[in-house]
Amino acid sequence: MFSGWRLTGLAGAVVVALAAAAFALAPEPVEGARMAIRLTARTSLALFLPAFAASALVRLFPSAPTRWLRRNRRYLGVAFAVSHGVHLAAIITLAQLDFAVFLRLTNVVTYLGGGLAYGFILAMTLTSFDRPARLIGLRAWRLLHRTGIWYIWLSFALNFGKRVPISAAYLLPVALIALAALLRLTGGFRSGKRDDEGVSPPADPVEPRA
Ligand code: HEM
Repeated sequence: MFSGWRLTGLAGAVVVALAAAAFALAPEPVEGARMAIRLTARTSLALFLPAFAASALVRLFPSAPTRWLRRNRRYLGVAFAVSHGVHLAAIITLAQLDFAVFLRLTNVVTYLGGGLAYGFILAMTLTSFDRPARLIGLRAWRLLHRTGIWYIWLSFALNFGKRVPISAAYLLPVALIALAALLRLTGGFRSGKRDDEGVSPPADPVEPRA
């Protein structure tokens, strides 16, 4: 089975190919950019949720698949960052193609809330590599990843949740997002200790000494 950086590479390549196909096959470019934005929001969620819930899943249901998931959560997390990078590229494409449509679909909350989410994604991706992780130290690493992962979770909850009035189909992602939070919270309680709350530094320990 694919794992490690090969998993990140494969998932990233699939997302890029799907977004390019959505853009190319749409009847016109603005619709193509919008389709790529919506598609990558969904691929991002599909990559984020397993990484988000991995630790809780292995504690609640210890098995080979859940252990595989926990071993690979860093690589899924970086694949999520690639997918959301494509989300951003499609947003920029939309703004260039039709700025009026871009303005109609966004507002100041999108820029500030989404901008902060991208700040977290960038910082968390950089510190998924050993050297930058070592540079900031274990405490800062944990604070960044604990805060960032819940902030990204909230961004998904709000962005999918606000679309439920448009279509009841959005209840599916909202239910998955809620379930993942429930798993993570109950998984944490069951373990009886807070340990790293489902995040762990890169394989190489950041602070070798206690
Ligand atoms: C500055 C940052 C961002 C901007 C400007 C932005 C812009 C957009 C736009 C314009 C759409 C609507 C596309 C359409 O209806 O045609 C959209 C959809 C969406 N975005 Fe983003 N976004 C940003 C960041 C984020 C972040 C950080 C998340 C979540 C972590 C997110 C999740 C979503 C979701 C869930 C959708 C709906 C997808 C669907 O309809 O299935 N976005 N975004």
